[in-house]
Amino acid sequence: MQKMFSVDKFNTVQTPFYYYDTQLLRKTLKTIQEESGKYPNFHVHYAVKANANPKVLRIISQHELGADCVSGGEIKAALEAGFPSDGIVYAGVGKSDWEIKLGIENDIQCFNVESTAELDVIASLAKEVGKVARVAFRINPNIGAHTHANITTGLAENKFGIAMQDMVPVIEHAKTLDSIKVVGLHFHIGSQILDMGDFKALCNRINELQAQLAQNNIYVDNINVGGGLGVSYDNPDRELIPDFKSYFKTYATHLRLRDGQQVHFELGRAVVAQCGSLITRLLYVKQGTYKQFAIVDAGMTDLIRPALYQALHKIQNISSNEPAETYDVVGPICESSDVFAKAIDLNKCHRGDLIAIRSAGAYGEIMASSYNCRPLPKGYISEDFK
Ligand code: LLP
Repeated sequence: MQKMFSVDKFNTVQTPFYYYDTQLLRKTLKTIQEESGKYPNFHVHYAVKANANPKVLRIISQHELGADCVSGGEIKAALEAGFPSDGIVYAGVGKSDWEIKLGIENDIQCFNVESTAELDVIASLAKEVGKVARVAFRINPNIGAHTHANITTGLAENKFGIAMQDMVPVIEHAKTLDSIKVVGLHFHIGSQILDMGDFKALCNRINELQAQLAQNNIYVDNINVGGGLGVSYDNPDRELIPDFKSYFKTYATHLRLRDGQQVHFELGRAVVAQCGSLITRLLYVKQGTYKQFAIVDAGMTDLIRPALYQALHKIQNISSNEPAETYDVVGPICESSDVFAKAIDLNKCHRGDLIAIRSAGAYGEIMASSYNCRPLPKGYISEDFK
C-alpha cells in the first residue's frame, strides 16, 4: 500500500477526484529554483496549460516562477493565482482580439507571435491604446523530438511558428511598427522529452539562427526555449522529481548566448505531473472470456491521456494488500477507447477499493470533459484532508 496516500481520509469525498501531494509539489518547485538558480540569466515560467487548478497554481506562483499562458482564460487564471503580469508570456497560433487586448491592458512580459498577420493585429490593438507591446517570434526550428506524434510541435509540417528562413524579413517588418518592441525568439520542440540530445539539438539550431541574425545586425534580449522535459510514467517512485539538473545544464552548456541575453523556459509537465494522482473507486470486477476487467468509476472523460496518446500511467490498488492478479482497467464511458491499461498486475481487487492512477498532475484535470453528462472531477490538495 502507498504511504503517499491516506486512504481512510479519501473515503470522505466523492470519487473520481484528483489528489495533489503538495509536499512533493513544493519539493519539485524548490529543486527547479535551486537548479535554474545556478544560472542567473535563466528564468522559468510555469506552463499553465498543464494544470490550472487554483490551489496548485497558487502554490506555484509562490515560488518565483513566471507563467506561460496560451489563452485569455489562462492569463486571467495566472493573475488570479498571484503571478505578476510582468512574468507572463503569452503564446498560441490563434489569439483572438479580446485575448490580445487583455495581454496589452495587463502589460504582460511578452507575446510569443506565430505569424506576420498576428503581429500586425497586436500592433494595431496596442496602438489604439497608446501602448507598446513586447513580442518574441516563435520559430519553427524543424526538429523532431523523440516523443508521441501528437505532441511534437517543432517540425515544418506542424502549424506552429515561423520558418527559420522567413525570420529576417519578419523582424525587419516588426522594426517598422512603433507600437511593437521585439524582445526575443521563442522555440518549443515538443513535450515528454527524456532525451537531453533533443534539447541539445535545439540549442545548436538556436546558435545557427543567432549567427544568421547577427549577419543582419539583429540581436534580441531573450531566448525562450519552451518546455518539454518529460517524467517517468512507468516508474514514478523511482524519479518523483525530474532531472532538472541535467536539463538546465544542457542549455547552459550548449547555448551560445550574446552578452546579457536571458534564457526563458516554459515547463509544464515536469512541474506538476508526479504530484497528482487520479483516485477512482473500483465498481465491479468482471470476468470476461479471456481476461478479467477492473471497472472503475473514472473514465476517459477524467483522464484522456491513455485514449488520446496511448499513454500508460502506473496504476495501483491502494486499498488491497492481497497478492496481485491481472486486469484490464477500464472506465464506464460508452467508447471502447475508454481503457486505462491492459493486462496489468494489481493487488487483488474488490468492489469499493480505491485505485490510484499515478503521474496525472499534468494534462489530467485540465483536459477533463463532461462527455456523457458526467460531472467534472474535483481536485483536492493534501491539506484538504488534514
Ligand atoms: N510551451 C509551449 C509553446 C507548449 O506548446 C507547451 C506544451 C509547453 C510550453 C509545455 O510543455 P511541457 O513542459 O508540459 O512539456 N496534452 C499533452 C501535452 C501537450 C503539450 C502542449 N504544449 C499530454 O498530455 O501529453
